[in-house]
Amino acid sequence: MTSFTINGRAVTVDAEDDTPLLWVIREDIGLTGTKFGCGIGMCGACTVHVGGRATRSCITPVGSVAGAAVTTIEGLDPAGAHPVQQAWRALQVPQCGYCQSGQIMQAVALLTDFPQPNDETIDAVMDGSLCRCMTYVRIRDAIKRAAAAMPSGAKA
Ligand code: FES
Ligand code: FES
Repeated sequence: MTSFTINGRAVTVDAEDDTPLLWVIREDIGLTGTKFGCGIGMCGACTVHVGGRATRSCITPVGSVAGAAVTTIEGLDPAGAHPVQQAWRALQVPQCGYCQSGQIMQAVALLTDFPQPNDETIDAVMDGSLCRCMTYVRIRDAIKRAAAAMPSGAKA
């Protein structure tokens, strides 16, 4: 049994400590916005925030998040209107969409650390978030748009 909060809600899940957090989020808690891509921490599709830090949930044992605050794409904003999500919509970033919740969660974490990032910082931080549809140019533009909309920095 592991207890933590997810999107501000306290949960206790009956899962082995080494069960990937991603499975618990999708199968036990029923939040399916977080995606499975590679399962080995190499693509970023499964990115959530743990304590505000971008975290690959596919390689994070659920036992390691005991007592932590986990945020998924569903919890960024109750109306899906976080400035990063607004920028994503305005620039029509997604193509197939599969990677995009992970991209957005990584981008929000990036803007928390670097409120006004330059291209090099964006490319370095987003490097591990892969998109087979090659939406990288729009992702970079949307991050800049979001940064301009919240000059004091993002809040995870
Ligand atoms: S599914 Fe977790 S990094 Fe690819
Ligand atoms: S939008 Fe298709 S994988 Fe990124």
